[in-house]
Amino acid sequence: MPGHIIHGFSKLSRSEKLTWLRDQEKLSEAALAHLNGHLHPDPKLQGIYEEISENNVSNYYLPLGLAPNFLINGILRTVPMVTEESSVIAAASHAAKFWAMHGGFHAEVLGILKNGQIHFTWSGSERELHNAFAMIKEELLQSVESITRRMEERGGGVESLEIRAMGPALAGFYQLFVTFRTAEAMGANFINSVLETMAGKFSSLMKEKGPGGILEIIMSILSNYTPDCRVNCHVEGDTHIFDPLVPTMTGEEFARKFMNAVQVAIHDPYRAVTHNKGIFNGMDAVILATGNDFRAVEACGHAFASRNGTYSSLSNVELSNGQFRFSLETPLAVGTIGGTTTIHPLAGASLEILGHPTAEQLMEVVAATGLASNFSALRSLITTGIQRGHMKMHLGNILRQLKATPVESEMIRSHFRDRTVSYAEASSLLESIRNQNPKQ
Ligand code: MEV
Repeated sequence: MPGHIIHGFSKLSRSEKLTWLRDQEKLSEAALAHLNGHLHPDPKLQGIYEEISENNVSNYYLPLGLAPNFLINGILRTVPMVTEESSVIAAASHAAKFWAMHGGFHAEVLGILKNGQIHFTWSGSERELHNAFAMIKEELLQSVESITRRMEERGGGVESLEIRAMGPALAGFYQLFVTFRTAEAMGANFINSVLETMAGKFSSLMKEKGPGGILEIIMSILSNYTPDCRVNCHVEGDTHIFDPLVPTMTGEEFARKFMNAVQVAIHDPYRAVTHNKGIFNGMDAVILATGNDFRAVEACGHAFASRNGTYSSLSNVELSNGQFRFSLETPLAVGTIGGTTTIHPLAGASLEILGHPTAEQLMEVVAATGLASNFSALRSLITTGIQRGHMKMHLGNILRQLKATPVESEMIRSHFRDRTVSYAEASSLLESIRNQNPKQ
């Protein structure tokens, strides 16, 4: 076995961790310099980052960019976005500006219920279980009062609880399905604390007062599938608004081709995954900027995209009598207080950029950014193709990879002013520049 198992790694100081890493992984001096060079100069801020997750030895920077001109329900917002992919923010900004001039985004929160489950097995009959549950339900709710009191003051709390049988495929398996309101918080810790406390009480009450079967708790955990915490966002207008977009197409032709592209994503999972990925390009960037949980939002969105049995597009287009309506409906469990949203200084700054939105307003902003990203991607795909804009934005990264000097970079940039960028062409161009000017 190469290397050796280390015990107590988490107890080592940062420099001891790096010494171990250098020996274990034969890390280059350059990599070590990067790890050391990305610490925050302010020890107080560095301390905050070090408390966010474990075993850290550095900070991982990603750019935070701004997409201005997002007119959402009549309010003009600047949207902070964190992403590693060039062209995502530019694309969202273009779409935001276009739609700001045509009525903006119309967003509506369709529900804010979150949920969690206490999974268990029960040896008795389903009828006895339901009867016993009806008898102890109030006591179960009382058992979590100390946890729910503060949330209730903020307008949240436990909304409902019910027993659900897992069905014939998993006989004897049940769940206590609990729904929650979590006010301005995403609420994961709140939900899990309620569920774990309630599970303990459930088990003891069934022993004490139940009809005499065996109840075994399997696990208690929130569900990240939150179809009842959902937002809809749409843009609409006469197809003539697209007339100036593409010199070779009328607005009507553009709208029809756009609708065809969405139809493909609705009916073909291979295309739907890429289509939805483009939506998440925008949504994840806002989720990250505001310190929310992008894994939860992604997992939930993809499950929702499969709700009819086949993975499909999250967005839709309607086109009739020259009227175009493009919409996105997706579950989104986000918060504006608690967790990383409160701890990470840049999440705080992002929320301030957004004007301190409520959780529901943040849902609307995230959905609008997803719809904007989707609009821009489809607009490119059905006209110039995606590479033209994308590679233009990516050119800086290519020049950096090729270690082009500022003079060489300028020559290559001007070469690509009216052409689609490619790595191969940039690389051979650089080679020929260097061959012609060996000293540059
Ligand atoms: C690239 O990150 C996203 C796109 O592939 C999305 C799409 O195809 O709709 C451009």
